[in-house]
Amino acid sequence: MDVASSHILSTALFLLCAVSQSVHCQQVYLNDTVYDCSDNPSIPKGYLCNGLQKSCRSFLALRSKPPYDTPLSIAYLLGSEASIISSINNVSDNDKIPTNKSVVVPISCSCYGNIYQHNTPYTVRKADTYYQLAKRYYQGLTTCQSLMGQNYYASVDIPVAAQLSVPVLCACPTAEQAADGVTSLLAYTAADGGERVHSVAKAFGVDENAVANANKLPLNSTIAAFTPLLVPLKGNTCKQDPNSFFCTCSSSSAAADASSVDLYCQDSHDQKFPVKLVASLGMFDKHDKALNLHAHIYYQE
Ligand SMILES: *[C@@H]1O[C@H](CO)[C@@H](O)[C@H](O)[C@H]1NC(C)=O
Ligand SMILES: *[C@@H]1O[C@H](CO)[C@@H](O)[C@H](O)[C@H]1NC(C)=O
Ligand SMILES: *[C@@H]1O[C@H](CO)[C@@H](O)[C@H](O)[C@H]1NC(C)=O
Ligand SMILES: *[C@@H]1O[C@H](CO)[C@@H](O)[C@H](O)[C@H]1NC(C)=O
Repeated sequence: MDVASSHILSTALFLLCAVSQSVHCQQVYLNDTVYDCSDNPSIPKGYLCNGLQKSCRSFLALRSKPPYDTPLSIAYLLGSEASIISSINNVSDNDKIPTNKSVVVPISCSCYGNIYQHNTPYTVRKADTYYQLAKRYYQGLTTCQSLMGQNYYASVDIPVAAQLSVPVLCACPTAEQAADGVTSLLAYTAADGGERVHSVAKAFGVDENAVANANKLPLNSTIAAFTPLLVPLKGNTCKQDPNSFFCTCSSSSAAADASSVDLYCQDSHDQKFPVKLVASLGMFDKHDKALNLHAHIYYQE
């Protein structure tokens, strides 16, 4: 598909999203329905598979909490790669990350039925329940409904050592978002006490309107503690706001210089988009290790 026709397509999809009230073009903020284990079919199981793609690269931001407080253990919990988590977050594989810090984790995201998710295995320990798993370990980045829906066991008294499949929340950009330059979405879990959408957007260097819109929230909203918020990440932010995110916009290792950033960081959703983020939340390396990472973190649209 050439650039012109893809532009026409995305414009058409954009208009469709804009006029159609019935089509959910963005995701709806799930709030604490993620912890609702009741037997009620109207509770959402996750994010609707409504994006341009059926699968994509995606990100999570989990809070470091023992025993999941090193890149290795977090990779194990979430089905990711420790070495990439280490690089993104400027730590070593076995380093303890201070409790409560947000850790960015890359995952792959796909549609299962009409829900986006990233499935990862979990071995049950004594006294685990679906509610506890969602709350304590996955911090609202899975839903009790989807855990119940795709596992054999009832939600309490799960046998020790049983193997579960945990559907981790994720989503791919919608047509409207792609038309706006969004290359991927990050599922963020709010800190204890809740957070303003504004401050989450600011921490990631993303426009507050875009974050509110991505979750169908009014501006100035507050989100509850340990509930998920989708943060839309834009490829063109690499040019506009290099201090908020670290972006390498080329798959060659010469990507660090400004000219190649200009060359590859075009606002075109029709191209390959290697994008790297590190600078959020004050714990990511802006200068060193991030440069080694671009080969791993990029998007082939
Ligand atoms: C989230 O849920 C709480 C209570 O369940 C409710 O008071 C609050 O308004 C909801 N927030 C949003 C943004 O929908
Ligand atoms: C982490 O957050 C929890 C909940 O707010 C708090 O009780 C705890 O003291 C925090 N731990 C650290 C090390 O900041
Ligand atoms: C957002 O919230 C702040 C503080 O709660 C308030 O001062 C401000 O007027 C609000 N802005 C809008 C646009 O509602
Ligand atoms: C990355 O980690 C190293 C070693 O811990 C530290 O010296 C450096 O300041 C960190 N960089 C950033 C940007 O935090």
